[in-house]
Amino acid sequence: MTGRKRPHLVVLADAAALAHAAAKRISARLSQARARFAVCLTGGSTPERLYELLASEVYRNALPWDRIHWFWGDDRFVPPDDPRSNFGSARRRLLDRVLVSSDNIHAIPTSAEDVEKAACLYEAELRRFYGADRLATGHPLFDIVLMGVGADGHTASLFPGRAELEDKERWVVGVHEAGLEPFVPRVTLTFPTLASTREMLFLVDGVTKRSVLSCLLAGADLPAARVYSEGDLVWLVDREAAPEHHDGA
Ligand code: 6PG
Repeated sequence: MTGRKRPHLVVLADAAALAHAAAKRISARLSQARARFAVCLTGGSTPERLYELLASEVYRNALPWDRIHWFWGDDRFVPPDDPRSNFGSARRRLLDRVLVSSDNIHAIPTSAEDVEKAACLYEAELRRFYGADRLATGHPLFDIVLMGVGADGHTASLFPGRAELEDKERWVVGVHEAGLEPFVPRVTLTFPTLASTREMLFLVDGVTKRSVLSCLLAGADLPAARVYSEGDLVWLVDREAAPEHHDGA
C-alpha cells in the first residue's frame, strides 16, 4: 500500500469488534467543535453492521445529527428501493432510524437519465456544498470517508485497469460497466475527491478478503492501494481478513 500518508492498520477480533471500532472513531471525529460535518459512506455488505450500530441508542443520543451531512463514495445505478442501492442500504439501516433532515442527505441521483448525467449532477452538488470549484489542500471536503475493498482490489467503484483511475480533474465519474457483481452501471467519486478528507477509514472483514489484503500489503498496484488521503488513513481489518503475520491490534 503506497500512498501520500502511510496507512495505519488495526486488526480487530471479528466483524462486531470492527463495527464498534469504526463507530468509536466516527463518533470521536464528529465530537469536535465544528459547525457542520460531511461523512461519505461506502456500499457493499461490510458497513451494514456499522450503520445499524450508529442508529442504536448509544450513538443515536451521542452524535450531532443536525450538523452531519451524508454523502456516498459510489452507488449502483438503480432506484433507492432496489436491494443493490448503497443509498437505500444506508437509509434503511441508519438514516431512517434517526432524526435527520432531508437537507442533510446527499444521495447520488440515480434517477438521472444516465450515469454521466448523474455524475455531473453529483459533482455540482459536492461543489456547492464545498463552496468552490477546486479542492484545496488544507480545506478537506469531507470529515470522514468510509471505504471498502472488493476481492479484485477495487474500492468505491474504481475497478482495476479502468480509465477512471487516472482521472485527476473530475470529482465524480460514471462507470458504464462494473468489474464485479452486481453488474450494474455505477457512479463513483474519483481518487482526488475521496482523498479530500480529514480521515479515511477502510472496513475489511471476512476470510474472502484475506488474499486481496495480502496482495495490497505486499504492494500490488490495485485501486485500493492507490487511494490516498489528505488526513489520516486507517484500515480496520478483522482477524479473518488479516494475513497471518498481521495478527494483533
Ligand atoms: C460498491 C462499493 C464497493 C464495496 C466493496 C466491498 O458499491 O460495491 O462501495 O467498493 O465497498 O465491493 O463490498 P463488500 O462489503 O460487499 O465486500
